[in-house]
Amino acid sequence: MAEAQSKIPDMKPEPKGDEWEPKIIGFLCNWCSYAGADLCGVSRYQYPTNVRPVRVMCSTRISPHLVLDIFKAGADGILLGGCHLNDCHYISGNFYTEKRVRLMWKLLEDAGIDPKRLRLEWVSASEGEKFSKVVTEFTEQVTKLGPSNVRKDNVLKTQVAAADNASETFRLRALVGKELDLEKKGNVYGNKLEQTELEKLIDQATKEEFERALILELSKSKAMSVKELGKIMNVPTDKVLRHIVALRQKNLLAMEHPEGFTPTYKTIEIGGEL
Ligand code: FES
Repeated sequence: MAEAQSKIPDMKPEPKGDEWEPKIIGFLCNWCSYAGADLCGVSRYQYPTNVRPVRVMCSTRISPHLVLDIFKAGADGILLGGCHLNDCHYISGNFYTEKRVRLMWKLLEDAGIDPKRLRLEWVSASEGEKFSKVVTEFTEQVTKLGPSNVRKDNVLKTQVAAADNASETFRLRALVGKELDLEKKGNVYGNKLEQTELEKLIDQATKEEFERALILELSKSKAMSVKELGKIMNVPTDKVLRHIVALRQKNLLAMEHPEGFTPTYKTIEIGGEL
């Protein structure tokens, strides 16, 4: 994975006349999807050439942070390909991939990127034809969605940066990392949690962490009041205030220059963990 993370393909637009072509990154696991792509090639199945393949050892090596980073770099779509469930070379890797991708979709939605720009597919080494079908369908879907505006739109850029920071919080990493165990084995007291209950819990935590990360992004360059933040984020002020209390407890936000009776808050650049 270190290799995949350090080699994010160049996302500079390629001149192709006036016609826009989607730029899609395909992370393919070494043992199934990459071999499926190979078979697709040698079998001479036709498919669009918009997907730039990156070989990874297992689909679960792709983190939400990497996905968001690639969207920040200007990708229009990301395809994750892995072995079918129960066929992962590392036994349960792709079960974790499923959980992570669910978090990625949620974070993309919060950030303002259509989650349809990220697709997860299981393609085995013998499914060359399926690979061609998946790539064709996904390229058509991303083409319909149009070019990603992350690099041009500052609001979107801030939201994606917030989603990226939220994905790296201990709370979300721990929750998603433990989700399978909590579902199958239960917590330390042996209490198993229903999948729907867990998903609800993770969705709520994702929303909260995203909003807190967004407050930190927005308050980086200018001290902001609760009212201002609530208005920009479209979040009720009592909720913003609760986030501010939590962020101040972690020493991530400082109160600055109270104007009259209205305090404003600014992000502490060097602080504890979010
Ligand atoms: S090795 Fe293919 S998904 Fe894990």
